[in-house]
Amino acid sequence: MSSQLTRRDWLRASGLLTAGLGLSRFTPATASRPNAPFVSGFTNEFAFTDDPFDKMPKLRARLLANENPLGISPNAKEALVKAADLGNRYAWMEFAQLKTLLATDEGVKPTNIMMSPGSSDILMAAADHFAKGGGTILTSTMTYDDLLQRAEKFGAKIKALPMTKDYKFDLPAIKANITPDVKMVYIVNPNNPTGTIIPTAELEAFIREVAPKVPVFIDEAYIDFFEPAERPKLGKLVSEGQNVILARTFSKIHGFAGLRLGYAIAQPEMLKTLHAYTNGEFAVSITTLMAGIASYKDVDWQNHCRAENAKARNYTTKALTDMGYEVIPSSANFILFPIRMKTSAFSNQMFANGIGIQTRDFNGQPYCRVSVGTMDEMAMFMDSFKKVVG
Ligand SMILES: Cc1ncc(COP(=O)(O)O)c(C=O)c1O
Repeated sequence: MSSQLTRRDWLRASGLLTAGLGLSRFTPATASRPNAPFVSGFTNEFAFTDDPFDKMPKLRARLLANENPLGISPNAKEALVKAADLGNRYAWMEFAQLKTLLATDEGVKPTNIMMSPGSSDILMAAADHFAKGGGTILTSTMTYDDLLQRAEKFGAKIKALPMTKDYKFDLPAIKANITPDVKMVYIVNPNNPTGTIIPTAELEAFIREVAPKVPVFIDEAYIDFFEPAERPKLGKLVSEGQNVILARTFSKIHGFAGLRLGYAIAQPEMLKTLHAYTNGEFAVSITTLMAGIASYKDVDWQNHCRAENAKARNYTTKALTDMGYEVIPSSANFILFPIRMKTSAFSNQMFANGIGIQTRDFNGQPYCRVSVGTMDEMAMFMDSFKKVVG
């Protein structure tokens, strides 16, 4: 099995991505990718041609981009209003405040943190840097591939090793494939689209062994869905001096997909290198930063969102399992499972019912990835699903 998915590819497969739509930063480039695309196992059987600006408002349940269906924290909303009075100021103090909060919790120094408008910017910066001059980026099949496709476009070779049978990154296989031409290892934990996680002790041991030879990039976009007690604390590896890059986003549990806020945790030298490929930290607005600080401090809201997500995820997993579907156990805010009809027919009918989902083929097997919405939305999803699959 092999292949990678990006938000871009998922959206394109569902017909929600056309040139000019701001759902991906690199839409026009990918819409007509000059080189053979790095999409080996999944086939894009299907593409809507109609305009997403027409399609999106018709959705009753928007379950296609792993957004937070509950919205942003009420405290973040208040902060947004307060920020209006500071819109004339550059955000010096706010950057310092948020970095100090993050650094304290992660056990690193503020100089180990670089802010960005969403984690995509960190992914793209790493792709640009590590692709320079060629070489290989080592990863797994069936993972998020924004970074991988970008790196390939700029000269890197992507080596994606098969996942384990239970849809996890095969760390021993990755270790065994570290060769002199490998420039970076890319891991997503929890992984998108499978929702699977790597046991923390295994991941830490892997980083300690591999990072002294080659930089390890851990995309932790969905880390906030871990129960706090189980959350990996890889910041300590950064403070040990390991060459690891952690990418985080406020787009998921904090609900900032539209507000745009993310950050990287890494060695200061590495951040300096990556910074050169970005538009700089001031690409993040004071509005977003102030809301981000309020949201970060609002642990009750995060706990509420995590609990609601788990409830709706469990409900959907059980409903699908009861129908005989094999759902991949997910630790994130989306679920992946094989379906028994063609992706195009399935997706068309779901969208016609007002339910936005993602579909892809993997090694000839059609899959549905559904983001976890509210309980009402998941009930609507199940209702439509039952009608569509008969
Ligand atoms: C695994 C993964 N990494 C990174 C991102 C980028 O998110 P953002 O740029 O909104 O922070 C996403 C978005 O869905 C994702 O799924």
